[in-house]
This record gives sequence, C-alpha cells and structure tokens, in this order.
Amino acid sequence: MSRVWRRLALLACLALVAPRLAAAAEPGVDPHAVYEKSCLSCHNEHAGDMSRQRLAVSKPKETLIVSRTGTGVEQLLKKHHGVKLSAAEAAAIIELFKKGLTWGGVFQHRCARCHGRAADFARATLTLADGRVRTQKGQTDVGAFLATHGEATATEIETLLEMLRYQVETKPK
Ligand code: HEC
Ligand code: HEC
Repeated sequence: MSRVWRRLALLACLALVAPRLAAAAEPGVDPHAVYEKSCLSCHNEHAGDMSRQRLAVSKPKETLIVSRTGTGVEQLLKKHHGVKLSAAEAAAIIELFKKGLTWGGVFQHRCARCHGRAADFARATLTLADGRVRTQKGQTDVGAFLATHGEATATEIETLLEMLRYQVETKPK
C-alpha cells in the first residue's frame, strides 16, 4: 500500500473507534464554549457553581451524577430540554464538571476557612506573570509560597495552582 492509502485506512479505523474514545479526551472542544452555547440560556450560574451545588462523582465508577436524584449526567443530557450535544461536547463538559469538583474540593478543604471563595480570592489577590501564578502584591510565586503555607500536599498544590490559574484567566474583564 502507498503511504497515502495506509494513512486513509488508518483514518477510517480511527473514525470507527472515535465515538468510543470521545469519553476519554477531546482536544479541540472548548467545554466553556459548550456550556455557554448550550446551557447558559436556562442555567444562569457558572459551570463551576453548577458542579459544586448540584453534581457529584459516584463511587466507585467515577460517574458524574446529579446529587439530588443520582441520575448520570451523561444520561440526563441525552434528553434534556432540547439540548443537542455531540459525544465529544458531552464528554468535554462532563470532564469540566469533574475538574470543578476536584479543584473546589481541595481549596474547600485546605484554604476556604481563611480565604473564602476560590474565585473571589484568586481574582482579588493573584495574577499571572512569566507563565507563573503570582501574588499581585510583591509578585510572590504562589507554588513556592504554598510549600510552607496552607499545609497542602505536593499533589494538592499542583491542583490548586491549576485551579487558581483558571480563576485568574477567566476573570471577567
Ligand atoms: C431550555 C432550557 C435548558 C437548557 C438549555 C439546559 N437545561 Fe438543564 N435544566 C433545565 C430545567 C428546567 C431543569 C430543572 C427541571 C429538570 O430537572 O428537568 C434543569 C435541570 C438540570 C440539572 C439537574 C439539576 C437537579 O438538581 O436536578 C442539570 C445537572 C442540568 N440541568 C444541566 C444542564 C446542562 C449541563 C446543560 C447544557 C448542556 C443544560 N442543563 C441545559 C433547563 C435547561
Ligand atoms: C489559617 C488560615 C489560613 C489558611 C488555612 C490558608 N491561608 Fe493563605 N493566608 C492566610 C493569611 C492570614 C494570609 C495573609 C498574611 C500572610 O501572607 O501570611 C495568607 C496569604 C496567602 C497568600 C498570599 C496573598 C498575598 O496577596 O500575598 C496566598 C497565595 C495564600 N494565602 C494561599 C493559600 C492557599 C492556596 C491555601 C490553602 C492551601 C491557604 N492560603 C491556606 C491565612 C491562611
């Protein structure tokens, strides 16, 4: 087979398995854009607030469910007030909700009693400079600062930095 044909055959195979892979990861789909396009018209809260207030991850299968009813979110969105999502869009938005829950959980556990809401704290006190999360006052590197402040583990600090960065990046202009 020529290289072109081999590549086409490979693409055909990928097209067949793609819908199954979609649940794992889908670069190229912006979950926030999906939320804004498909959910915000009826749900006026932020995606992060929706996940913390209404959703949970069920054990042991790590499925995202509606806390109140136990319904799987993937299942809910298949028939939900005329919402039409591709498999990739549904996977992306479910991933975002799950992240929101993990992120919020660490801050909630370690930091919230002194610093309140993560988004408000991050947006009022932090900034991004040279690709790092820093304090607005003094430009302290937050990753380094957290090694001796707040009692988070190394893994939790990674999560916190990702979450804090996200809050700063999405700060309304
Ligand atoms: C056309 C309006 C509409 C759109 C668009 C919409 N929803 Fe809903 N949604 C509702 C209404 C109304 C309810 C409450 C009644 C119900 O459960 O059906 C609801 C309930 C929910 C619930 C369950 C909350 C609970 O506690 O039971 C979740 C989760 C949810 N929506 C997520 C989403 C997501 C995610 C999107 C976007 C992909 C979306 N919705 C788009 C109208 C909408
Ligand atoms: C027991 C209360 C307490 C806890 C818990 C706590 N902090 Fe703090 N944090 C403070 C106080 C008070 C300050 C301000 C004084 C200082 O710099 O020490 C501060 C300062 C900071 C600053 C620097 C802000 C600036 O503008 O200089 C950051 C960033 C920060 N905390 C992040 C966190 C994170 C993330 C966590 C959770 C892992 C956390 N803190 C846990 C009390 C706390």
